[in-house]
Amino acid sequence: MNGKPIIQTLHLFKIYKTGTVETVALDDVSIEIKRGEFVAIMGPSGSGKSTLMHMLGALDTPTKGEYILDGESVSKLSDDDLADIRNRKIGFVFQAFNLLPRTTALKNVCLPMVYAGISKEERIERAKKYLQMVGLGDRLEHTSPQLSGGQQQRVAIARALVLSPSLILADEPTGNIASIQASEIMEIFQDLNGEGHTIVMITHEADIAEHAKRIIHIKDGHIVKDGNDHQQRKAGK
Ligand SMILES: Nc1ncnc2c1ncn2[C@@H]1O[C@H](COP(=O)(O)OP(=O)(O)O)[C@@H](O)[C@H]1O
Ligand SMILES: [Mg+2]
Repeated sequence: MNGKPIIQTLHLFKIYKTGTVETVALDDVSIEIKRGEFVAIMGPSGSGKSTLMHMLGALDTPTKGEYILDGESVSKLSDDDLADIRNRKIGFVFQAFNLLPRTTALKNVCLPMVYAGISKEERIERAKKYLQMVGLGDRLEHTSPQLSGGQQQRVAIARALVLSPSLILADEPTGNIASIQASEIMEIFQDLNGEGHTIVMITHEADIAEHAKRIIHIKDGHIVKDGNDHQQRKAGK
């Protein structure tokens, strides 16, 4: 960890307007996440987790406040510029995997590299490397229906890694898979974090959040607790 923040939000607000009703989904959120951290963002349903994830992932812009991602201010960018920054800096892992169903694991992982203009030879080489890394070196030609939920999520993780993003952003990554496989996914995240990857994971499950080094608790759109107490507890301190 070199101590440089990869994520910095300054007094972030997101207010949704539906007819005459205003919902304050993010209410003055200021957080800093450094390179190399593994952070879980935890909170009950409706607390603003997905909204925060959309902000952090440059999928949407805040109503008020500033967001600096890896040194670049993204609060006021156009949709095209947001798309560009997302492609360059973020590897997404979603609850529903979001793989192409009739496409092999290998091709799913190659896809982001097609858009990035990487040669076919290089694409296949890199895709194989990352699929091996997540333990699927023997499943290259399997399509989604031929893989378990946990395996599909591992394909999605390999896909998120192929363009070497500065940040891995995962939204309820274990929400759709059996608990044994969920622990395997958490082990992969811990290994990746050990290798220096920065991971931000959204979850409503305490036992999943425990795998992170730091847990940020969100409620009613604001941060109510932020710390690594659970790691100290685990170490018996
Ligand atoms: N597009 C939207 N339009 C209006 N209200 C929304 C929209 N998205 C979310 N909300 C509201 O914002 C709050 C936070 O939602 P969300 O970020 O999805 O929470 P979580 O992911 O923690 O369940 C909720 O009250 C939700 O109803
Ligand atoms: Mg949500």
